[in-house]
Amino acid sequence: MEEIGQFQMISSSQRVDYDRIAHLYDEPGRDFDADTNLVEFLNEKARDKPSLCRILDMGCGTGKQLAANHDKFPDRQAVGLDLFHGMLLQARKRCMEVHWLQADSANPPLAGNTFDYISNQFSYHHVQDKKRMIESTFRILRPGGRFVITNLDPWSMSGWIVYTYFPASRGRDLADFLPVDQLMALMQRLGFWNIDAKYKHSRNEENLGDFLKYASERHRTSQLMVIPDADYQKGLSTLREDVKRLGKASRMPSEICLVCVTGDKPG
Ligand SMILES: C[S@@+](CC[C@H](N)C(=O)[O-])C[C@H]1O[C@@H](n2cnc3c(N)ncnc32)[C@H](O)[C@@H]1O
Repeated sequence: MEEIGQFQMISSSQRVDYDRIAHLYDEPGRDFDADTNLVEFLNEKARDKPSLCRILDMGCGTGKQLAANHDKFPDRQAVGLDLFHGMLLQARKRCMEVHWLQADSANPPLAGNTFDYISNQFSYHHVQDKKRMIESTFRILRPGGRFVITNLDPWSMSGWIVYTYFPASRGRDLADFLPVDQLMALMQRLGFWNIDAKYKHSRNEENLGDFLKYASERHRTSQLMVIPDADYQKGLSTLREDVKRLGKASRMPSEICLVCVTGDKPG
C-alpha cells in the first residue's frame, strides 16, 4: 500500500483546497471519542474475531477520528484516506500507528474485499463522483462489512445561522450534497442492504459576538470558503452591523441537522 505521496494538483471543480488550511483545521475543543457506530458494529461482530477487523476512514482529514478509535482499539488495523497531503501530514503527526493514504475516495487504490468497517465523516460532499465513491466503497468492503456515512443534511436545517448570513452557501450545499433518500436509493442500487438513516436535529440560540468571531475565520467551515468573496464579504458586513445594532451578547436562533446513513455489504 502506497502511503502519503507528493502534493498533487487539485482540479478546479474541487470544493475546497484543504492543503491551504490544513495547519488551521484542528480547532481546540473539538476532541473526538471513538466512533460509536464502530463500537456498535464491533459489539455485533463480537463472536467473529473482532481483532481481525480492518477499518478505513475516507476523507479522514487530520485523523482525529481514527486516532480516537486507535486509543480504544489499538489492535485493529486502520487506514485513513484523504485527497490532501497537508491534512495527512497533520494526521501522521497525531498518530503513527494508522496507515495514512493520499487518494480520492472515488478511486481508492485498495484491493477489493479488504475492510470490515468504512466511515466517511463530513467529506462526501467534496467528492464530485458520488456514484463512483459508493461503488468503490462497496468493492473494498468485505462481505458482512458496514459503511457509515455521516454528514449535515442541508435540507433539514434551513435555519442554520451560517445559511442565514451567507445564503449562497446553502445553494452550494444543496448542489454538493445528496438528499438522504437519494443517497439511500443509490446505496441500495449499488448492492448495500440493511440501509438506515438516523437524524440528530438540534436547535439553539447562537451568541452573535461568538458567531462573528467564527465567521471572520473563513477556514472554519467549507460553507464559508466555497462561496464567492463578494457573498462572503456581504454576509460578514451584515453580521457586523447586527452585532453593532443588537450587541455582542445578543442571540440568534439557529439549528443543525446531522444524518448518519449506514449500509451493509451482504455477507
Ligand atoms: C470537512 S473535512 C472532514 C475531515 C474529517 N473527516 C473530520 O470530520 O474532521 C473534509 C475532508 O474531505 C477531504 N476530501 C475532499 N475531497 C476528497 C476526495 N475526493 N477524496 C478523499 N478526501 C477528500 C478533505 O481533504 C478533508 O480532509
